[in-house]
Amino acid sequence: MPGNCFLESAIIVQTREVAESTYITGLKSRLIAPLVTPGQFLMVSFPETSDPLLPRAFSVCDATADTLSLFYVAVGRGTRRISKLKPGESLVLNGPLGKGFPEMRSAQKIWAAVGGSGAALIPILARAASKTSADIHFYYGARTGKQLVGFDEAANLEYATDDGSKGFRGNVVQLLIEKMKNGMPDLLFGCGPTPMLISMQKEFGARVPTYLSVETPMACGMGLCQGCPVRKAGKKDYYLACKDGPVFRSNEIEFEADL
Ligand SMILES: Cc1cc2nc3c(=O)[nH]c(=O)nc-3n(C[C@H](O)[C@H](O)[C@H](O)COP(=O)(O)OP(=O)(O)OC[C@H]3O[C@@H](n4cnc5c(N)ncnc54)[C@H](O)[C@@H]3O)c2cc1C
Ligand code: FES
Repeated sequence: MPGNCFLESAIIVQTREVAESTYITGLKSRLIAPLVTPGQFLMVSFPETSDPLLPRAFSVCDATADTLSLFYVAVGRGTRRISKLKPGESLVLNGPLGKGFPEMRSAQKIWAAVGGSGAALIPILARAASKTSADIHFYYGARTGKQLVGFDEAANLEYATDDGSKGFRGNVVQLLIEKMKNGMPDLLFGCGPTPMLISMQKEFGARVPTYLSVETPMACGMGLCQGCPVRKAGKKDYYLACKDGPVFRSNEIEFEADL
């Protein structure tokens, strides 16, 4: 196991449904929570069962001294099962794993574009920005307003929906293009579905230092199975998303779907 990483049985404190099929589960975590930085992830499994067989990767949504939370859309076996667990039941967490976003600095202007389960990063990024007095703005996109979650933690949060039912009509990259007509951020972060990341890389990668959190499927989360390759830019060689990422500087990587 990588250094500064623990296997911990964590008790569920509560689960809230925060939008359609979308949940936040809070857990007690004495070992892992204090170590997490934004963009790092956990491998999550269920105690005393091998169903589902493989652990699932989750970004840490928020972390305090002794609690952390997971944000997820119940799409399959793992997430549906977590959503049904009761307070007092437990999950097995392995983490914190991987490399997250670069440390923020005071007065730095940061824009974070999120979509889908990438919205998990809003609370933990907002907390880190407020600690360092960085100026962070979130741009959160979805197909429709029903899929969007409100986050009290984020002082500056704008929405984009494909159907125009909430916020800007269009996708989050189109919203960023509009915003950039009036000025550029110092750093741009992206967490969300791969097509959104590809579009961010194309539109902004050469203009703003851009960091993208990739959602490559993972089996071990620790560099053992070689199952999470991410192509190195301009090379026939690969990073491992779990060990070298999941956050990469956009000009370091090529998306396979884009080749
Ligand atoms: C570094 C990293 C961080 C991640 N962080 C999060 C997170 O914070 N929250 C979160 O919900 N997920 C996150 N994921 C994805 C997560 O690991 C699971 O793949 C996902 O939650 C589905 O797990 P499942 O067991 O419910 O579905 P599975 O049974 O594995 O899949 C069921 C079906 O759903 C499809 N599917 C998988 N993911 C999605 C999705 N996001 N949207 C729509 N369909 C999907 C699959 O292709 C499959 O067809 C992350 C993945 C990585 C690699
Ligand atoms: S998930 Fe096994 S090497 Fe990355």
